[in-house]
Amino acid sequence: MPVECREKIVDEPKPGAIAGALLAHYDTHARNLSWRVSPSDRRAGVRPDPYRVWLSEVMLQQTTVAAVTGYFERFTSRWPNVEALAAAPDADVLAAWAGLGYYARARNLIACARAIATDHQGRFPDTEAGLRALPGIGDYTAAAVAAIAFDRPSAVVDANVERVTARLFAIETPLPAARIQIRACVSDITPAARPGDFAQAMMDLGATICTPRSPSCLLCPLAQHCAARGAGIAESLPVKPPKKARPQRIGTAWWIEQDGRVLLIQRPGSGILGGMRALPDDGWSARSDGNAQPPVTGQWQRIDAAVAHVFTHFSLGLALALYRGPQIDKVAIENLNGAVWWPVEEIAEAGLPTLFAKAAAIAIQHR
Ligand code: ADE
Repeated sequence: MPVECREKIVDEPKPGAIAGALLAHYDTHARNLSWRVSPSDRRAGVRPDPYRVWLSEVMLQQTTVAAVTGYFERFTSRWPNVEALAAAPDADVLAAWAGLGYYARARNLIACARAIATDHQGRFPDTEAGLRALPGIGDYTAAAVAAIAFDRPSAVVDANVERVTARLFAIETPLPAARIQIRACVSDITPAARPGDFAQAMMDLGATICTPRSPSCLLCPLAQHCAARGAGIAESLPVKPPKKARPQRIGTAWWIEQDGRVLLIQRPGSGILGGMRALPDDGWSARSDGNAQPPVTGQWQRIDAAVAHVFTHFSLGLALALYRGPQIDKVAIENLNGAVWWPVEEIAEAGLPTLFAKAAAIAIQHR
């Protein structure tokens, strides 16, 4: 291995001792999560369902356990296996994903389910490389599914594991440069036995004890192995790069209601909130403000700064404009992609992403 993680360790590293202590703690403290096979069930021979592992790992990227749980339960009730998900219409999956954010994940989820159903007879590949070759599966997901579903000793590194490892080995190199060294350290301490439980135990430790601020080192099963704790620098690690300022963009969403129905469109397949049902808007993006041009001429009532929304790379101030007439004829909206007149009473079932759900709630107060 080109990267040596040991140079940073104060005491002799004891990979086996670290895994042993962590797994013993996990045996009694594992969080009870819908997608997880508990350590005792695992010992009794229950095998994780790769579909549930994969789905949960995709949902959990950049999203908290609390936010994911309800979505996971709804998805697995409605689509209990990968073939069922592969057969679902795109619009149903995207609508079921609404509110979870990072919608490219949902589009990739559909592509991956279909590739498994058609090219792999509905069975997930059981190696990291095989999983990585599927559409929409990146390094993290391949490693997590290989470890958790198939007990492969992959190095599983999410933000929690990154923090735990940077502290355990007192890695003071700032992120992202530290990632190579962190991965090497995770590889080093990942055991051949129970690598899936080990990965989940590292995640749990990061989520519950080795927290970003005020880590509970007194409760930590790895305290005696932790170089950062020894040096009194645990809370300062990992060293983060300076935050980039987010550009502020402005845009307008258009609420056009007639006879108790509101006009919704489908956003273009790629790009921000791609493929999602939405209110028509004025073309704002990460790079530029919207053009403030309404899709139909008529009387408009404007509500400025209606919704403030933060995306990863920019913030958006979305104004809202309500159409006040005259009556629109069908031809005027024919050029809008996927236009439908949706009953306002049923707006909660439209599958609007959070930004537009917030705009719709404000429009309904002002209609
Ligand atoms: N975050 C991402 N994957 C997870 C898992 N399997 N368990 C707990 N937290 C996670």
